[in-house]
Amino acid sequence: MTGISRRAASKFVFPNEAPQVVSEDGRAKTWIVRGGNFAICVSEVEEGAVLSRGDNPEEYMVILPPQSASITIATDCEAIDAEPDSLTIVPPGSSRITARSPGKIVRIFSKAATDIIALAANADVYADGAPELAPVDLWPEPNDGYRLRHYPLAQHLNPNGDRIQPRCFRSTNMMVNLFGSFFTRRETNSLSPHWHDDFEQASLCFDGRWVHHIRYNWGADLKDWIPDDHSEIETPSIIIIPAWAIHTSRDIGEDGPESSLYDIFCPPRMDFASKPGFVLNEVDYPLPVIDSEQRTKTGGTLLSWQKAN
Ligand SMILES: [Fe+2]
Repeated sequence: MTGISRRAASKFVFPNEAPQVVSEDGRAKTWIVRGGNFAICVSEVEEGAVLSRGDNPEEYMVILPPQSASITIATDCEAIDAEPDSLTIVPPGSSRITARSPGKIVRIFSKAATDIIALAANADVYADGAPELAPVDLWPEPNDGYRLRHYPLAQHLNPNGDRIQPRCFRSTNMMVNLFGSFFTRRETNSLSPHWHDDFEQASLCFDGRWVHHIRYNWGADLKDWIPDDHSEIETPSIIIIPAWAIHTSRDIGEDGPESSLYDIFCPPRMDFASKPGFVLNEVDYPLPVIDSEQRTKTGGTLLSWQKAN
């Protein structure tokens, strides 16, 4: 039995909404959706567009999905070229992203980026400060210090491998699981309903049609009950699944077309991080000392989900 979710899921289909930020030169449109501890910024950019941060307090992640923009990411100390189908972790401080081709750019910030958090389309959902969530205690600094860390993703995908191929990375303040794209649809007899005790899960989908099944527990007050949700959501879209809500996601429709799913967690999940070999950049970031009561908890069938066929 789980607890009671303090809020319903936030669902956001990008083409249906006006962007939260349009750059002065009009070359970058950015949609912002937040969870309790993080914000996801999806930008649609033209060549030459610039996305800069003056003094970002913590690391942030930059995801370039397949068929997205090519970019250059620069800090005060270094610069790298990043191509589609890659992840880059940007160190704290100032940074500048310049688009070398048009397309999408995803950036994920922790709530320490208060200016971005304040702009989120669903800011009112978190007016209570989300006290049910584990705090974003920073995990230890990288072994060789903060710097740009760039991870092309194709090398972590086996085209002949399992249908579900998790590709998990973490930083000092968050974790992403960038599943390899799916070309067959999930079987309806091998779903993985589960919940998270004290953190949220964002699921960002760029391709396909998805159903994020969600069940909320009942409390004593009938007026606060939230109905089950089995509705279909188009892409590109984001759902922020609250703590305690039982959930499982499946792509729907005919086999063949691509569907994609990226999961986002903030702070990093200790259950994934402490599983040797699961976090693909684990050599870059030391684990925190694990106290007897892990702060980021999970429930349900979580540790067996990734092998579900
Ligand atoms: Fe989950």
